[in-house]
Amino acid sequence: MKILIVNGPNLNRLGSREPGIYGLTTMEECMETLRARFPEVELEYYQSNVEGFLIDRLQAAEGCTDGIVLNAGAYTHTSVALHDAIRSLSAPVVEVHISNVHGREEFRHRSLIAAACQGVIAGFGMDSYRLGVEALISLHSTKK
Ligand code: DQA
Repeated sequence: MKILIVNGPNLNRLGSREPGIYGLTTMEECMETLRARFPEVELEYYQSNVEGFLIDRLQAAEGCTDGIVLNAGAYTHTSVALHDAIRSLSAPVVEVHISNVHGREEFRHRSLIAAACQGVIAGFGMDSYRLGVEALISLHSTKK
């Protein structure tokens, strides 16, 4: 099984960015933990601060992946283009957030991508990525 993890803007700074909200773990450390935990899954990681590059990466995944874990960062709350890109894919996409966006500023309460995704995971810190991977593995096994 192949799973792609995609992070949007500012998530390249995990580990040093607002540690009170996002913690001290870097995405590299998180990927290492995920790869050790799911050795049977081929896990690929992509990050960009640029909306169009995220869309290009999602489009390139069509036909090449069994599922996508997507933390679109702030584009979650603004991007119709990402919504459309997700809808165009045949593999399931799980929206994840490290923080509980619903307990934060009001502008973070609305997701423009959630309706295009299979489901949403938010508020479990870096463990949100693990939960996203588990959700995709479970979907994949029920499909078989
Ligand atoms: C985030 C929440 C977003 O509102 C924010 O813009 C981020 C990170 C999260 O993982 O909690 O960049 O997606």
